[in-house]
Amino acid sequence: MREELSALLAQMPDEQRVRVAGRDFWVGHLHGQPVVAVLSRIGKVAAAITATVLLERFGARAIVFTGVAGGLAPGVNVGDVVVATELLQHDMDASPLFPKHEIPLMGLSRFAADPDIGNALSAVVADVLRDPVALIGQEGVDEFGLQAPKLHRGLLISGDRFVSTTAESIALQHELPDALAVEMEGASVAQVCHDYGVPFAAMRTISDRADDAAHGDFACFVAVVASRYSLALIGAWLAGLPAVN
Ligand code: ADE
Repeated sequence: MREELSALLAQMPDEQRVRVAGRDFWVGHLHGQPVVAVLSRIGKVAAAITATVLLERFGARAIVFTGVAGGLAPGVNVGDVVVATELLQHDMDASPLFPKHEIPLMGLSRFAADPDIGNALSAVVADVLRDPVALIGQEGVDEFGLQAPKLHRGLLISGDRFVSTTAESIALQHELPDALAVEMEGASVAQVCHDYGVPFAAMRTISDRADDAAHGDFACFVAVVASRYSLALIGAWLAGLPAVN
């Protein structure tokens, strides 16, 4: 989201804008690491284009996706963070030619996230979430009624739909009982990275429960909670990586 990107750019001392395919790619350093920061845009195709440009034009050696998602599984609540271990496109359905959710001609419905990056991100999430007041202030905690935020690891599902009815959320939970949360890009970027053999990780802050109340105050949540989580988490992860010359 734009608010997350702005927070990151404010911490990049040397970012240069490079415009490709109508997108602004910000090339520079963050915590001493060479990075390219970009908005994925919304939806599977837009995010797949952005990912492809990152790999083809900028030679990215890994892609880490941050953003927000709707919680599906019981106990995945607003303010929690999901680090994906695998990702699936819930609206892919070429049945009866191929099993539901399978990507035609790939024989695959679930893309594995990189375990090393996932483990490193999870370690910093556990640390950063310990003190949400320090991160977003007491007002932010009160405004969004955050309880002790939790880390979840598992299946993240993506589709070209903002899930905003309880009926659809229940249908997805029945169809994919191990899905933790739903968003609109991750699994398409995972597919691009799979095809290029590049490590991929995704980390999402839960902004809603993908139910009848899901539209809520989305922009405000991203600005107050998710962008600060992303900044702290990406910062802590990058700061822990070995220096690159
Ligand atoms: N991103 C954040 N919340 C979402 C939802 N409910 N459905 C799809 N994408 C989301």
